[in-house]
Amino acid sequence: MLFHMLTRHPNIHRIVINDINMDLIRSYQLVKDNPESLIELLRPFEQKYYKLNEDERRQYFYEVRHEYNTSLLTENQRAAYLIFLNHTCFNGLYRENGSGSFNVPFGRYKKPKICNAEVIMADHEVLTKVDIICGDYKHIISHLGKGYNFIYLDPPYRPLMGSCNFNQYSKSGFGDPEQVELKTFCDRLTGRGCHLMLSNSDSTNADGTSYFETLYEGYFFEKILAPRFINAYAEKRKKQTEVLIKNY
Ligand SMILES: C[S@@+](CC[C@H](N)C(=O)[O-])C[C@H]1O[C@@H](n2cnc3c(N)ncnc32)[C@H](O)[C@@H]1O
Repeated sequence: MLFHMLTRHPNIHRIVINDINMDLIRSYQLVKDNPESLIELLRPFEQKYYKLNEDERRQYFYEVRHEYNTSLLTENQRAAYLIFLNHTCFNGLYRENGSGSFNVPFGRYKKPKICNAEVIMADHEVLTKVDIICGDYKHIISHLGKGYNFIYLDPPYRPLMGSCNFNQYSKSGFGDPEQVELKTFCDRLTGRGCHLMLSNSDSTNADGTSYFETLYEGYFFEKILAPRFINAYAEKRKKQTEVLIKNY
């Protein structure tokens, strides 16, 4: 969404992005501030990985994951490790266990692009007008501009009824109380005249009714088909309906 807006709407003069995941935000910041150093850090990962057979790759992946979870790394190293893990783990998932350690297993790929210098440099170019912040989403209210504000929210997905229980982006999780709190926050933003759009899974209540249509009563809804690669079952991985909730 960010890169779509940046490339399709060059007249936008300011964008703010926010996430609570510090390493994710550091990765964006490094691409913005010092893409050359990120490329330098990522290149050895790629060179080494390409020389290994599958068993060796698996072993290397778990070594890097262990280091990421336990070693004292610099902020820039953490960003590079995260990108390596994201490109070589199972389905590009991000998930933490109860103690805050990244716990996604090894993924099997032929030639994953670990150091895509061309893309990093292109992203660096467009990130110049982006303010990158890390923290709870509620703080973004202090970053609202004076005029027109459009806000896109991409919160943790609510599990589909009867599907796997994946919403562990971080050790704190994001359950129904947090979804309700986010809805209250959306009402506040609406009250301040912001236009907002939020996406989530097409999740249902126990009685089969739509969870988000019930929660966001009075908002506008669209169902969209989104390609989903994050599913343990290949047959469920094709396309899933998601909801797009808007206040306009
Ligand atoms: C569906 S993912 C979206 C990821 C992001 N849009 C991207 O593409 O990189 C949900 C994100 O919500 C973030 N998150 C969870 N709780 C949050 C909170 N209280 N405030 C801000 N971000 C939060 C997670 O860290 C996760 O990255």
